[in-house]
Amino acid sequence: MLGQNFGMRGGDVVVVTGAASGIGRATALLAGSFGLGVSAWDLNRAGADEVIAEIERAGGRGKAMTVDVTDDEVVSSAFAETRETLGVPRYLVNNAGPPSVADLEFRAALQIAAGSVQMVTEQWMALELPEAAAVVSVASVAGNLVGASPDWYGSSKAAIAGYTRFLAVRHARRLRANAVAPGAVDTPRMASYLATAVGQAWRESNPMGRIASPEEVAAVICFLLSPAAAYVNGVLLPIDGGATLTL
Ligand SMILES: NC(=O)c1ccc[n+]([C@@H]2O[C@H](COP(=O)([O-])OP(=O)(O)OC[C@H]3O[C@@H](n4cnc5c(N)ncnc54)[C@H](O)[C@@H]3O)[C@@H](O)[C@H]2O)c1
Repeated sequence: MLGQNFGMRGGDVVVVTGAASGIGRATALLAGSFGLGVSAWDLNRAGADEVIAEIERAGGRGKAMTVDVTDDEVVSSAFAETRETLGVPRYLVNNAGPPSVADLEFRAALQIAAGSVQMVTEQWMALELPEAAAVVSVASVAGNLVGASPDWYGSSKAAIAGYTRFLAVRHARRLRANAVAPGAVDTPRMASYLATAVGQAWRESNPMGRIASPEEVAAVICFLLSPAAAYVNGVLLPIDGGATLTL
C-alpha cells in the first residue's frame, strides 16, 4: 500500500535546494511530514533554520545548511555533511534558481541557473546512491511551453528539461529523473507582480481562475520522487492549472 506518503520510507533522506522559501520550503515541509530526513540547502540560512525547526516541532528530522548551489566546493561539503548527519540522500530536488526578474547576462545566467543543476546532480550521483534513487528538477512552463520570459530564464529552464531527459535515458539503471514545469505559483518572488492590475488579470485568465500554491507544486514533486511514480522517468510535468492549453 502506498498510503498517504506515496510509499516513501521514513529514514530516507532528501536534499532540497532553495529550501528556505516558496516551492522549496513547501517541498521540505511535506517531505519532513512524510518522515524523510530533510537536508535543507539555501543561501538564506535563517529561512532554512526555520524550516527545519518546523519539521522538528512536528516530530521529524533534518539539517539546515548554508549552501550556494553554484559553488562546487560548498556543494561537495554539503553532501558530505548530509551523509554524516542524516545519511546518503536517496532523493534530490533541484529547486534553487534566480528569479526571472534578475538582471543577468545570458551566458552567466545559464551557468548559474542550469549549470548548478547539472553540477549538484553530478555530485549526488557520485555518492553510493541507494536503490530507487530519484531526482526532480524545477523547470518552468517558461522556455518549455511558452516563450514570454527573459532570454536566459526560459533558456535555462529548457536546459534543465533537456538535462532531465538525458539523465532519464543514460542513468536509468541507477535513478529516475523527472522535472516539473510550474506556471504561476504564489511564492514571495511573485508577490509584488501579482499585486498589480496586470498580475491580477493574469491570475484570472487561468482556466482555474487562480494560481498554484507552493504546496500544490510540492505534492507533485514528492509524488515524482516516490515509489508511487516508480515507472515515471523523464517527464516534464506541467503544473499550471491548464494555462498553457489556452495559448
Ligand atoms: N514562483 C513561480 O511562479 C515559479 C514558476 C515556475 C518555476 N519556478 C521555479 O521554482 C523555483 C523556486 O521558485 P520560488 O518561486 O519558490 O522562489 P523563492 O524566491 O520563493 O525561493 C527560492 C529560494 O532559493 C534560494 N536560492 C536562490 N539562489 C540560490 C543559490 N544559488 N543557492 C542556494 N539557494 C538559492 C533563495 O534564497 C530562496 O530561498 C525556481 O527554480 C523558479 O525558477 C517558480
